[in-house]
Amino acid sequence: MSLPSELCCPTCRGPLAVEGVGAACRVCDRRYSGDRGWLDFLPDLGAAGDGLGPRLMHSRALARVYERLWRPMFFGVASGGLPDYRAEFEAVLAALASAEGGAVVDLSCGPGFTGRRLAESGRFTRVFGLDWSLAMLARAAADNRGLMRLIRSDVANLPFKTASLAGAHAGAAFHMWPDPASAVAEVARVVRPGGAFVASTFAHTRGLRRRLEVAASALGRFHVFEVDQLRGMLGAHGLVDFECERRGSLILFWARRAGAAAA
Ligand SMILES: C[S@@+](CC[C@H](N)C(=O)[O-])C[C@H]1O[C@@H](n2cnc3c(N)ncnc32)[C@H](O)[C@@H]1O
Repeated sequence: MSLPSELCCPTCRGPLAVEGVGAACRVCDRRYSGDRGWLDFLPDLGAAGDGLGPRLMHSRALARVYERLWRPMFFGVASGGLPDYRAEFEAVLAALASAEGGAVVDLSCGPGFTGRRLAESGRFTRVFGLDWSLAMLARAAADNRGLMRLIRSDVANLPFKTASLAGAHAGAAFHMWPDPASAVAEVARVVRPGGAFVASTFAHTRGLRRRLEVAASALGRFHVFEVDQLRGMLGAHGLVDFECERRGSLILFWARRAGAAAA
């Protein structure tokens, strides 16, 4: 096994060396297993998330039906129409145009369907699929066909070198992250200047619908954002030129890592 050059130790940011089917840090000597189809940077199994929604993401039953049933149902309700994954994927690809020819990560990839399509597009040198749920990663690994390099990690502490990635995508995950601002800080650290970040999540609408959003997010323990809050969070970490498309409570937004791309 070879180790992608973009990876580093998430604990001390030291370089990694291959060790068996896993990796070891050359500086702090921590070991990361790789025997289940992904490199595991969360060996403590402690990270499960708090509350119903985040906890469900660790269920094998949900991971099995997530792509075909759970996601379309949620996207349909949130957007107030039929979910259109094909259009969503085309918009994600367009937002990642500046990342073509470089490595990208599908953050919180779940069962991996978007990451696989990004890899199949042939536009990127490497695609990482990253999640912290063992159940989701098991599904992603079963369907992977060698397309992505799978990683188990917390988005708030990414195992990538600074400015090593050309782009990052996070589909339907922002609202599930316990600390979105820390995750955004990490995205801004690992994406190179001029690189791209694109994500989808829930954003508040108005009137009765807004009340439903508040009730659903309290019940499911997920966040619903104001658009300005998302723009501000990204801007505070150097992710600029914020743009978005909205359908009901669903928002797809994208931004550019400030600074010029290296020649
Ligand atoms: C609703 S699913 C989204 C899956 C897929 N990206 C999509 O477009 O539908 C949310 C995912 O976020 C993952 N997740 C939540 N918090 C995370 C964290 N702190 N670090 C990594 N993954 C996380 C969950 O395990 C779950 O797979």
